[in-house]
Amino acid sequence: MSDGGGQVRQRKKNASEGGGNRPRKSKFTSSSGTGTGSSPSVAQQHQMWARLVLMVGIAAIVYFTTFRTREKKFATQREVLDLRTQPLDCSRPYLEEISKFAGCIPANCGRFVSDKIVSPAEAGILLDLARAGFELGQSAGGASILDLHSGALSKGTQFINVYRLPEAKKLFTSQHINVYRHVKDKVQKAVADNFRLNVDALHLTHPTFFSRLTNGTAKTIHDEYWHAHVDKETYNSFHYTTLLYLTDYGKDFAGGRFVFIDNEGKHNRTNVYIEPKRARVSGFTSGGENMHHVEQVTSGVRYAITISFTCDREYAMADPKFALDEAGEEEETSETNATTA
Ligand SMILES: *[C@@H]1O[C@H](CO)[C@@H](O)[C@H](O)[C@H]1NC(C)=O
Ligand SMILES: *[C@@H]1O[C@H](CO)[C@@H](O)[C@H](O)[C@H]1NC(C)=O
Ligand SMILES: *[C@@H]1O[C@H](CO)[C@@H](O)[C@H](O)[C@H]1NC(C)=O
Repeated sequence: MSDGGGQVRQRKKNASEGGGNRPRKSKFTSSSGTGTGSSPSVAQQHQMWARLVLMVGIAAIVYFTTFRTREKKFATQREVLDLRTQPLDCSRPYLEEISKFAGCIPANCGRFVSDKIVSPAEAGILLDLARAGFELGQSAGGASILDLHSGALSKGTQFINVYRLPEAKKLFTSQHINVYRHVKDKVQKAVADNFRLNVDALHLTHPTFFSRLTNGTAKTIHDEYWHAHVDKETYNSFHYTTLLYLTDYGKDFAGGRFVFIDNEGKHNRTNVYIEPKRARVSGFTSGGENMHHVEQVTSGVRYAITISFTCDREYAMADPKFALDEAGEEEETSETNATTA
């Protein structure tokens, strides 16, 4: 810097020596032509650079103080939370739609996390169920799903019906099924309690599914789980979305945090993180107030269950039949569409 300053002073001196005799233009042309004049040219460059650096610096400070993406941790893996909530204003389209469903209108839109709804033992049983299911099929990319309602299971770049596989009969025990139903009921009650709904006005809806995420390279659009989205826009039937995590962030896998994206005006964004923890339940209203994505998993395997609820009876879905023992029902499930997240 001191060098530059000296040269700047020198240039000024030279310029004043040049005096008013010469026209302004010739001063510049001559300086570039002569040996002594080359120093103002370097000095000008230094000054230009100094200004540029200063401007970039100011711009960066303005950017990072005004338009920075802030980060908030809503729930870390190490915490054990009874209940943490964040109320939000409902997005307008969500509010307009949900207002039609008496008993199903939230006191506030928002989100919650609790580690006390599902026990670690229950989560362990569901993790066993998930692992057993994904033994029968997995996506060729990084995201596999298993939907026990439709039977859809990722396999390669497609979906198969798990209930058509004879091996499935041995895998899903009555204990699995009972825990799945019991957990679903508890999560439904938690949603009703948190948003002050009539629990009977809430209905399980499609798709409700197990997910298995890895760092595998995406092969189809179904593998690209990391895009920001609003559930109500992706799945028209959704009104309340819940997730039950079956493995631990930072232990069983890296990356894979759940991120709410809170945009408060253009370039003003806060990322709100939930670190998955075994048996942790998160729930949120499915409208534009809860835009979110899942970070890419960088190593390990992330297991979770998405349990979705609607207020619209038309989209209500029964508990899974696990139609394995009863002949005849197998055909019924095989007819169901294998559309997924
Ligand atoms: C960004 O949002 C925060 C929190 O709502 C607010 O305090 C701040 O003024 C906003 N900044 C801009 C530039 O809009
Ligand atoms: C993907 O994850 C595995 C472990 O699950 C790890 O060994 C591997 O290095 C990861 N690959 C990349 C590209 O990060
Ligand atoms: C299956 O998909 C077809 C066409 O996309 C749709 O019309 C039908 O309602 C779907 N059935 C179920 C059970 O989701």
